[in-house]
Amino acid sequence: MSSGVGPALGMAVYGAGRAGRALVAAALRAGVAVQTIWTRSPETARRAARELGCHVASGPQLPTADGVQLALLAVSDEVVADLTRALTEAGALANVRVVAHLGGALGVEVLAPARELGCAVGSLHPLRSLVGASSGLEGCWCALDGDPLAVNELRHLAKLIGCRTVKVGADARALYHAGAALAANDVVALLAAAAEALQAAGLHDGDALGAAVDLARSAIDNVARLGTAAALTGPAARGDAVTISRHLAALAGLRPDLADIHRELSRQLVALSRQQGTPPDRLQHLLDVLDRA
Ligand SMILES: NC(=O)c1ccc[n+]([C@@H]2O[C@H](COP(=O)([O-])OP(=O)(O)OC[C@H]3O[C@@H](n4cnc5c(N)ncnc54)[C@H](OP(=O)(O)O)[C@@H]3O)[C@@H](O)[C@H]2O)c1
Repeated sequence: MSSGVGPALGMAVYGAGRAGRALVAAALRAGVAVQTIWTRSPETARRAARELGCHVASGPQLPTADGVQLALLAVSDEVVADLTRALTEAGALANVRVVAHLGGALGVEVLAPARELGCAVGSLHPLRSLVGASSGLEGCWCALDGDPLAVNELRHLAKLIGCRTVKVGADARALYHAGAALAANDVVALLAAAAEALQAAGLHDGDALGAAVDLARSAIDNVARLGTAAALTGPAARGDAVTISRHLAALAGLRPDLADIHRELSRQLVALSRQQGTPPDRLQHLLDVLDRA
C-alpha cells in the first residue's frame, strides 16, 4: 500500500499492549500495511482486535515477519531481549530490513540477535502517554536511535503517522527518559497527592481528583501558551512565605512525605519566580523558611 511519503512501508508488530495498539492504529490510519500483529495473551489479542478491527495472533507460536521493512517490538522493556532471541531462533525475522523497539531508556544492543541476522536495529520512543488505539500520535515527538538505516526507516514511519522526531543517542538516553518520566509519571504522582490533600480537606473522593485535574489542566494550558516563568501563579510566584509554611505544616500533619515534595518543588519555583520579577528579598525570605521547615 503506497503512503505518498517515501517508499511503501510494510510492518509487523509484536506486542499489542497500550503502546502497540496506539502505534498500529496510527499506522493503519496512515495507510501503512500492517501485515502481522502478535501479542502473547489471547485476552490482549481480543482487546486489540476489537480496537483495531483486524486479526491479532496470540500464543506461543510466533508468526513470521518475513519480508517486511520494519518489525516493531512493542513489548515491555524487560521482555525485548528475550523476544528478539525467540523471533530470531524461530526464523521469524528473515528478510526483515529493520527491527526496532519502543523503549525510552533501553539501548538498541538488546536487539543484537537481529543485527547478527543482518537486520538494522533501532528504537522509536513516542513522548506521549498511550493507552491504546484511542491515543492519537499526531504532533507527538519521537526519540530515535540505532543504525542509520533503522533511524531512516523509523523517521519515515514517524512522518507518516504525523510525529516529529529527534535523535537521542545512547549516552543521553537515561537523562532523556528521566525528563519524560518527570512530565508523564511524576505529574500523575502529584495529582494523586493533590487529590489526597483536597479529599482530606473535605472534597468527595471523585470530586477531589476531578478538581485537581481541572486545575492542573489550566496550569498546563498556561505553560503551553506563556512558558513556565510567565505561567506561574500561587504563593511561590508572590514570594508568600507565610502561606507556604502553613501548607508545609498542614501536609506534614497529613503525610510528611507530601510536605517534603512540596518543599522541594517550592525551591524549584523560586527560580521561576525570580525570572518573573518577584522581589528578591521576598524570595530570599521564602528560601530561608524552606530551609528551616
Ligand atoms: N504506554 C506508553 O505510554 C508508552 C509510551 C512510549 C513508549 N512505550 C513503550 O512501549 C513498550 C510497551 O509498553 P506498553 O505501555 O504498551 O506496555 P503494556 O501495555 O503493559 O503492554 C506490554 C506488552 O508486552 C507484552 N508482554 C509482557 N510480558 C511479555 C512476555 N514475557 N513475553 C511476551 N510478551 C510480553 C504484553 O503481552 P500480553 O498483554 O499479550 O500478555 C503486551 O503486549 C515499552 O517499551 C514502553 O517503554 C510506552
